[in-house]
Amino acid sequence: MKKVIWLTGLSGAGKTTIATNLKELGVDAVFLDGDILRKGLCKDLKFSLEDRLENIRRVAEVARLFIENGKTCVCSFISPTKASREMAKTIIGHENFVEVYVNTPLSICEKRDPKGLYKLAKSGKLKNFTGIDSVYEAPEAPEFVLDCYNESVIDSSQELYNYLEKMLYI
Ligand code: ADX
Repeated sequence: MKKVIWLTGLSGAGKTTIATNLKELGVDAVFLDGDILRKGLCKDLKFSLEDRLENIRRVAEVARLFIENGKTCVCSFISPTKASREMAKTIIGHENFVEVYVNTPLSICEKRDPKGLYKLAKSGKLKNFTGIDSVYEAPEAPEFVLDCYNESVIDSSQELYNYLEKMLYI
């Protein structure tokens, strides 16, 4: 069975960039990303913990279908709670689920603020924002951790690529 490479981390941590870099490095996979799915399949959902759980449930079901059809799947979603990631793992199958923690500290994500959302959240104009007034529970035992604060995102992507290749996941 192919694997689901599941990238979890704060908004602005670099999940989408890492997924894009994996694609550019030649990883043959289907790429599912939070910002994109929330414009289509999940556009009825908002950012309460309940809606986030439903978001992750749908994504995990889709990812499961892809691996059952012989396609590796790279998923980049905040997936902020342990419960949501446990659910994804259960749907996808523990042995098929590769949890990767994109560990970029909140202070750096806030500084990067590529979409200006942290600024909005801190001024109170955007509610339930992860890391500001909504929880992010870091994974306790992720299979792989990318410490994105002391190296570039490109280096991190290469490091992840090397690991996935070594493990014969890709
Ligand atoms: S998840 O929590 O349900 O896993 P998901 O990864 O799909 O989130 O979507 C996160 C993206 O939605 C962020 O990168 C950001 O661009 C956007 N977004 C808009 N509002 C919020 C919010 N309140 N909290 C977090 N992300 C938000």
